Amino acid sequence: MTLAELENEKAASLKAVAEASDASAIEALRVKYVGRNGSIPALIKAMKDVPKEERPAFGKAVQAWRAEVEAALASKGVGGGEKPVDADLTLPGRWRNLGVQHPLSRVIEETASIFGRLGFTVADGPELENKFNNFTALNTPAHHPSMDRSDTFWFGDDCLLRTQTSPVQIRTMMANKPPVRVICPGRTYRRDTTDATHSANFHQIEGLYVDTKPVSLADLKSVLAYFAKEMMGSGVTVRFRPHFFPFTEPSVEVDFSCHVCKGKGCNVCKQSGWIEVAGAGMVDPRVFGHVGYDPAKVSGYAFGFGVERIAMIKYGIPDIRWLYENDIRFLEQLG
Ligand code: PHE
Repeated sequence: MTLAELENEKAASLKAVAEASDASAIEALRVKYVGRNGSIPALIKAMKDVPKEERPAFGKAVQAWRAEVEAALASKGVGGGEKPVDADLTLPGRWRNLGVQHPLSRVIEETASIFGRLGFTVADGPELENKFNNFTALNTPAHHPSMDRSDTFWFGDDCLLRTQTSPVQIRTMMANKPPVRVICPGRTYRRDTTDATHSANFHQIEGLYVDTKPVSLADLKSVLAYFAKEMMGSGVTVRFRPHFFPFTEPSVEVDFSCHVCKGKGCNVCKQSGWIEVAGAGMVDPRVFGHVGYDPAKVSGYAFGFGVERIAMIKYGIPDIRWLYENDIRFLEQLG
């Protein structure tokens, strides 16, 4: 091929690319000119047969041709090894499987939404707490077993991984005047050996309502009954059993009626018809004293749920460890 012939070919190729309108025609031109066996690579291969003195000029012309054709193709959406853009924009897109929310996040978000409807906002506190917020202000006596080094992760004498979300009660009251109405979800830590129902790190959702109007145990029960129905199903009821917590008086343990057997007795509720889900009670006046509230002027209730517990009974998860192991066979069932 002479230089003049090359210029003719080049002009023809550029014209053809400019005029091509559909994807397959453009692809055919790409193959014809710059494809592996196209005319431009063939010319480069044949360069050795060009007389030595013409070679530089010829080489330059071939390179220029290639650059211009590639630019023309690129302007039509070809290049970088990609296929030409398909003109049919109505074709469905490529689908990707969406992940699902973790059961613990689901329970926390659903709880926040249920209590949100009752006027509760979400409060937050750190996982690394001091002794005052986690124990002292919660009226926990110095000899209480939960303060023991074998039960709590301590870092020195005044720093610990919170054993409960109850210190957020203290932080909330110290930072706000009554009325307060909050829930506080978060991680908590205890020196437990991990088994099917225990984990050294687990989650709780605290609730606190304090008002200058009288607040009663009946208010607490009605709010928890509403929560039980919204979370577990319309047939679920609550019962209170007397208990002791240093920071509530009176204190109760809260059971939901078993949502599986409707209270008749089954494996899930260990034949009792009831499932323990929370601790609760009326805020002890001494706690109000610690946060600067006047115990004569305010009253309130508090409660604390185990998030894992709710998730396990709600979704029928028999082993707490499944919630943390990231086993795809388990996670895939949650959709
Ligand atoms: N903090 C208690 C626990 O971890 C639960 C609780 C919270 C009890 C609020 C009463 C009021 O067991």
